[in-house]
Amino acid sequence: MTSRTPSESYTVVTDLVLPSETNPVGNMFGGELLARMDRAASIAARRHCRRIVTTVSVNHVAFSKMIPLGSVVTIEAKVSRAFKSSMEVVMDIWIEDRESGMRNKSNEGIYTFVAVDESGQPVPVPLITPESDLEKERFKAALRRRQLSLVIAGKMKPAEATELIALFK
Ligand SMILES: CC(C)(COP(=O)(O)OP(=O)(O)OC[C@H]1O[C@@H](n2cnc3c(N)ncnc32)[C@H](O)[C@@H]1OP(=O)(O)O)[C@@H](O)C(=O)NCCC(=O)NCCS
Repeated sequence: MTSRTPSESYTVVTDLVLPSETNPVGNMFGGELLARMDRAASIAARRHCRRIVTTVSVNHVAFSKMIPLGSVVTIEAKVSRAFKSSMEVVMDIWIEDRESGMRNKSNEGIYTFVAVDESGQPVPVPLITPESDLEKERFKAALRRRQLSLVIAGKMKPAEATELIALFK
């Protein structure tokens, strides 16, 4: 079966924050960032499997820093792990300083997508082979996150979440 690397799904989306995308105190509206992340992550998932993909879960989003009006926001997305029909995508979000041009990490997020056929039924995706240390770390942790997400969604019994349970032992 085909195997791809996380780099093959690497996706970068850069855009400005406009007035209509902010809250009353002039910072980026959270839902706007979630939508941009969904677009970036879906492109990464599509690049990995080269099929139609659909979001099945927003596993984690940390809004750790405010993103002011006028910011240049960059979302970097990569598939971290592929399962049977599902793929976890990890995103790092950066804001660019206008004067220095330096990038500061503002947020991160993890979404899961499923590859589907024309009738919306799940289809198998290629395997993934992580290369860098960070990719290997994210690949390993993805199994725990999948189990947590499935337990929360009521699709896995807690007792079956062996990787998750091992964390607490
Ligand atoms: C995604 C969808 C096709 C999955 O169909 P399904 O019948 O639930 O299929 P399954 O239960 O076999 O799940 C398919 C895969 O998703 C995974 N999955 C399902 N729910 C999940 C969750 N909450 N978190 C992580 N993975 C999940 C399953 O583990 C399975 O992965 P695997 O094949 O790699 O083992 C179906 O739920 C759907 O169409 N949902 C709506 C998607 C959508 O419209 N998204 C846009 C939001 S508006």
